[in-house]
Amino acid sequence: MMRIDVLTLFPEMFASPLSLSIVKRAQQRQLVNIALSNIRDFAKNSYKKVDDQPYGGGPGMVMMCQPVFDCLEQVQKQDANPGRVILLTPGGRKFDQQLAKELSVEKRIVLISGHYEGFDERIRIGTGAEEVSIGDYVLSGGELAAMVIIDAIVRLLPGALGGEDSAANDSFSDGLLEYPHYTRPELFRDMKVPDVLLSGNHKEIDKWRKQQSLEKTKKQRPDLLK
Ligand code: 6GU
Repeated sequence: MMRIDVLTLFPEMFASPLSLSIVKRAQQRQLVNIALSNIRDFAKNSYKKVDDQPYGGGPGMVMMCQPVFDCLEQVQKQDANPGRVILLTPGGRKFDQQLAKELSVEKRIVLISGHYEGFDERIRIGTGAEEVSIGDYVLSGGELAAMVIIDAIVRLLPGALGGEDSAANDSFSDGLLEYPHYTRPELFRDMKVPDVLLSGNHKEIDKWRKQQSLEKTKKQRPDLLK
Protein backbone atom coordinates (compact mmCIF):
# COMPACT_ATOMS: atom_id res chain seq x y z
CA MET A 1 0.00 0.00 0.00
CA MET A 2 1.24 3.48 -0.86
CA ARG A 3 1.65 5.91 2.02
CA ILE A 4 1.14 9.67 1.61
CA ASP A 5 1.99 11.97 4.51
CA VAL A 6 0.84 15.56 4.50
CA LEU A 7 2.45 18.11 6.81
CA THR A 8 0.20 21.13 7.11
CA LEU A 9 -1.03 23.92 9.40
CA PHE A 10 -4.60 23.22 8.26
CA PRO A 11 -5.36 19.49 8.33
CA GLU A 12 -9.11 20.31 8.48
CA MET A 13 -8.94 21.55 4.89
CA PHE A 14 -8.36 17.99 3.69
CA ALA A 15 -11.47 16.45 5.23
CA SER A 16 -13.90 16.58 2.35
CA PRO A 17 -11.59 15.95 -0.66
CA LEU A 18 -10.20 12.87 1.07
CA SER A 19 -13.57 11.52 2.18
CA LEU A 20 -15.38 11.49 -1.16
CA SER A 21 -15.38 9.64 -4.44
CA ILE A 22 -12.29 7.92 -5.81
CA VAL A 23 -9.87 9.00 -3.09
CA LYS A 24 -12.25 7.72 -0.41
CA ARG A 25 -12.68 4.41 -2.23
CA ALA A 26 -8.92 4.01 -2.73
CA GLN A 27 -8.38 4.39 1.02
CA GLN A 28 -11.18 1.92 1.79
CA ARG A 29 -9.61 -0.55 -0.65
CA GLN A 30 -6.27 -0.03 1.14
CA LEU A 31 -4.53 1.15 -2.01
CA VAL A 32 -3.30 4.21 -0.15
CA ASN A 33 -2.89 5.39 3.42
CA ILE A 34 -3.06 9.18 3.77
CA ALA A 35 -1.76 10.53 7.08
CA LEU A 36 -2.16 14.18 8.08
CA SER A 37 0.20 15.85 10.55
CA ASN A 38 -0.27 19.29 12.03
CA ILE A 39 2.99 21.26 11.91
CA ARG A 40 1.68 23.49 14.72
CA ASP A 41 1.73 20.49 17.10
CA PHE A 42 5.52 20.70 16.87
CA ALA A 43 5.83 24.37 17.80
CA LYS A 44 8.00 24.64 20.92
CA ASN A 45 7.04 28.09 22.16
CA SER A 46 4.01 28.50 24.42
CA TYR A 47 1.93 30.41 21.86
CA LYS A 48 2.49 27.79 19.13
CA LYS A 49 4.30 30.12 16.77
CA VAL A 50 5.35 28.52 13.46
CA ASP A 51 6.27 31.64 11.47
CA ASP A 52 8.38 34.73 11.94
CA GLN A 53 9.46 37.92 10.16
CA PRO A 54 11.93 37.63 7.28
CA TYR A 55 15.57 38.54 7.89
CA GLY A 56 16.41 41.55 5.74
CA GLY A 57 12.89 42.89 6.10
CA GLY A 58 9.99 42.83 3.70
CA PRO A 59 6.35 41.87 3.79
CA GLY A 60 4.77 38.70 5.13
CA MET A 61 5.91 35.96 7.43
CA VAL A 62 8.20 32.99 6.86
CA MET A 63 7.65 29.38 8.02
CA MET A 64 10.22 28.57 10.70
CA CYS A 65 12.62 25.64 10.43
CA GLN A 66 12.19 23.94 13.82
CA PRO A 67 8.49 22.95 13.72
CA VAL A 68 8.78 21.68 10.12
CA PHE A 69 11.97 19.67 10.78
CA ASP A 70 10.55 18.17 13.99
CA CYS A 71 7.27 17.27 12.29
CA LEU A 72 9.06 15.72 9.30
CA GLU A 73 11.43 13.70 11.49
CA GLN A 74 8.54 12.41 13.61
CA VAL A 75 6.61 11.37 10.50
CA GLN A 76 9.61 9.82 8.74
CA LYS A 77 10.54 7.57 11.64
CA GLN A 78 7.10 5.92 11.45
CA ASP A 79 8.27 3.95 8.42
CA ALA A 80 11.58 2.46 7.26
CA ASN A 81 11.20 4.30 3.94
CA PRO A 82 11.72 8.07 4.42
CA GLY A 83 9.68 8.74 1.26
CA ARG A 84 10.02 11.21 -1.55
CA VAL A 85 9.78 14.59 0.19
CA ILE A 86 8.01 17.36 -1.71
CA LEU A 87 7.80 21.00 -0.71
CA LEU A 88 4.74 22.73 -2.18
CA THR A 89 5.70 26.12 -3.51
CA PRO A 90 4.76 28.24 -6.53
CA GLY A 91 8.46 28.27 -7.48
CA GLY A 92 8.74 24.50 -7.88
CA ARG A 93 8.78 22.08 -10.82
CA LYS A 94 5.46 22.26 -12.62
CA PHE A 95 3.15 19.36 -11.72
CA ASP A 96 1.74 17.55 -14.75
CA GLN A 97 0.40 14.12 -15.75
CA GLN A 98 3.96 12.87 -16.28
CA LEU A 99 4.92 13.75 -12.69
CA ALA A 100 1.63 12.29 -11.43
CA LYS A 101 2.55 8.97 -13.10
CA GLU A 102 6.06 9.12 -11.71
CA LEU A 103 4.79 9.74 -8.16
CA SER A 104 2.06 7.09 -8.42
CA VAL A 105 4.70 4.32 -8.43
CA GLU A 106 6.42 5.52 -5.25
CA LYS A 107 5.91 3.56 -2.02
CA ARG A 108 5.87 6.73 0.07
CA ILE A 109 5.44 10.46 -0.54
CA VAL A 110 5.69 13.25 2.01
CA LEU A 111 4.00 16.53 1.05
CA ILE A 112 4.89 19.66 3.01
CA SER A 113 2.38 22.51 2.70
CA GLY A 114 3.41 25.97 3.72
CA HIS A 115 1.51 29.13 4.41
CA TYR A 116 2.57 32.75 4.72
CA GLU A 117 5.20 34.21 2.40
CA GLY A 118 7.17 30.98 2.12
CA PHE A 119 9.52 28.54 3.82
CA ASP A 120 12.83 29.37 5.46
CA GLU A 121 15.24 28.29 2.69
CA ARG A 122 17.00 25.93 5.12
CA ILE A 123 13.88 23.73 5.08
CA ARG A 124 14.53 22.99 1.41
CA ILE A 125 18.27 22.68 1.84
CA GLY A 126 18.21 20.61 5.04
CA THR A 127 15.44 18.19 4.09
CA GLY A 128 16.61 17.66 0.51
CA ALA A 129 12.99 18.12 -0.56
CA GLU A 130 12.11 18.69 -4.20
CA GLU A 131 9.88 21.71 -4.86
CA VAL A 132 6.64 21.29 -6.79
CA SER A 133 4.09 23.85 -8.05
CA ILE A 134 0.70 23.10 -9.60
CA GLY A 135 0.74 26.06 -11.98
CA ASP A 136 1.67 29.63 -12.61
CA TYR A 137 -0.56 31.41 -10.10
CA VAL A 138 -0.25 32.00 -6.37
CA LEU A 139 -2.38 30.21 -3.77
CA SER A 140 -2.59 31.27 -0.12
CA GLY A 141 -1.06 27.98 0.91
CA GLY A 142 0.15 24.63 -0.33
CA GLU A 143 -2.93 22.71 0.90
CA LEU A 144 -5.00 22.99 -2.27
CA ALA A 145 -1.92 22.05 -4.29
CA ALA A 146 -1.37 18.99 -2.06
CA MET A 147 -4.97 17.92 -2.62
CA VAL A 148 -4.63 18.32 -6.39
CA ILE A 149 -1.49 16.18 -6.35
CA ILE A 150 -3.05 13.52 -4.10
CA ASP A 151 -6.12 13.27 -6.34
CA ALA A 152 -4.09 13.01 -9.54
CA ILE A 153 -1.83 10.32 -8.05
CA VAL A 154 -4.46 8.24 -6.29
CA ARG A 155 -6.65 7.78 -9.35
CA LEU A 156 -3.66 6.24 -11.12
CA LEU A 157 -3.20 3.52 -8.49
CA PRO A 158 -4.19 0.13 -9.92
CA GLY A 159 -7.73 -0.64 -8.74
CA ALA A 160 -8.63 2.97 -7.84
CA LEU A 161 -10.99 3.50 -10.74
CA GLY A 162 -14.10 1.39 -11.27
CA GLY A 163 -13.91 -1.78 -13.35
CA GLU A 164 -14.81 -0.35 -16.74
CA ASP A 165 -13.05 2.98 -16.11
CA SER A 166 -9.48 3.48 -17.09
CA ALA A 167 -6.94 6.23 -16.78
CA ALA A 168 -5.51 5.06 -20.10
CA ASN A 169 -7.66 7.31 -22.30
CA ASP A 170 -7.68 10.35 -20.02
CA SER A 171 -6.65 13.66 -21.46
CA PHE A 172 -2.82 14.01 -21.47
CA SER A 173 -2.21 10.27 -20.98
CA ASP A 174 -1.31 9.99 -24.68
CA GLY A 175 -0.27 13.62 -25.01
CA LEU A 176 -3.65 14.64 -26.45
CA LEU A 177 -6.88 16.00 -24.98
CA GLU A 178 -9.73 13.57 -24.63
CA TYR A 179 -12.44 13.19 -27.30
CA PRO A 180 -16.02 14.40 -26.58
CA HIS A 181 -18.48 12.11 -24.80
CA TYR A 182 -22.23 11.71 -25.21
CA THR A 183 -24.91 9.81 -23.29
CA ARG A 184 -28.71 9.51 -23.53
CA PRO A 185 -30.84 11.02 -24.95
CA GLU A 186 -29.90 10.97 -28.65
CA LEU A 187 -31.53 14.35 -29.16
CA PHE A 188 -31.38 17.16 -26.60
CA ARG A 189 -32.59 20.71 -27.50
CA ASP A 190 -31.82 20.25 -31.21
CA MET A 191 -28.38 18.83 -30.45
CA LYS A 192 -27.92 15.35 -31.84
CA VAL A 193 -25.40 12.70 -30.84
CA PRO A 194 -22.98 12.19 -33.79
CA ASP A 195 -24.25 9.33 -35.99
CA VAL A 196 -20.97 7.43 -35.87
CA LEU A 197 -21.38 6.85 -32.10
CA LEU A 198 -24.74 5.17 -32.74
CA SER A 199 -23.43 3.09 -35.66
CA GLY A 200 -22.01 0.21 -33.64
CA ASN A 201 -18.96 0.29 -35.95
CA HIS A 202 -16.11 0.28 -33.44
CA LYS A 203 -13.40 0.79 -36.01
CA GLU A 204 -15.15 3.95 -37.25
CA ILE A 205 -15.81 5.08 -33.66
CA ASP A 206 -12.12 4.74 -32.75
CA LYS A 207 -11.15 6.64 -35.88
CA TRP A 208 -13.64 9.44 -35.08
CA ARG A 209 -12.45 9.72 -31.48
CA LYS A 210 -8.79 9.87 -32.50
CA GLN A 211 -9.58 12.61 -35.00
CA GLN A 212 -11.69 14.55 -32.48
CA SER A 213 -8.84 14.32 -29.92
CA LEU A 214 -6.42 15.71 -32.45
CA GLU A 215 -8.74 18.55 -33.52
CA LYS A 216 -9.53 19.54 -29.96
CA THR A 217 -5.84 19.56 -29.05
CA LYS A 218 -4.96 21.66 -32.11
CA LYS A 219 -7.64 24.18 -31.19
CA GLN A 220 -7.30 24.37 -27.39
CA ARG A 221 -3.72 23.28 -26.69
CA PRO A 222 -1.48 23.51 -29.76
CA ASP A 223 1.52 23.53 -27.37
CA LEU A 224 0.87 19.82 -26.66
CA LEU A 225 1.48 18.91 -30.32
CA LYS A 226 4.99 20.38 -30.44
CL1 6GU B 1 2.41 24.35 -4.54
N1 6GU B 1 1.73 26.65 -3.43
C1 6GU B 1 1.24 27.89 -3.48
N2 6GU B 1 1.18 28.63 -2.36
N3 6GU B 1 0.79 28.46 -4.59
C2 6GU B 1 0.86 27.72 -5.70
C3 6GU B 1 1.36 26.41 -5.73
C4 6GU B 1 1.79 25.91 -4.55
N4 6GU B 1 1.30 25.95 -6.98
C5 6GU B 1 0.77 26.93 -7.70
N5 6GU B 1 0.51 28.01 -6.94
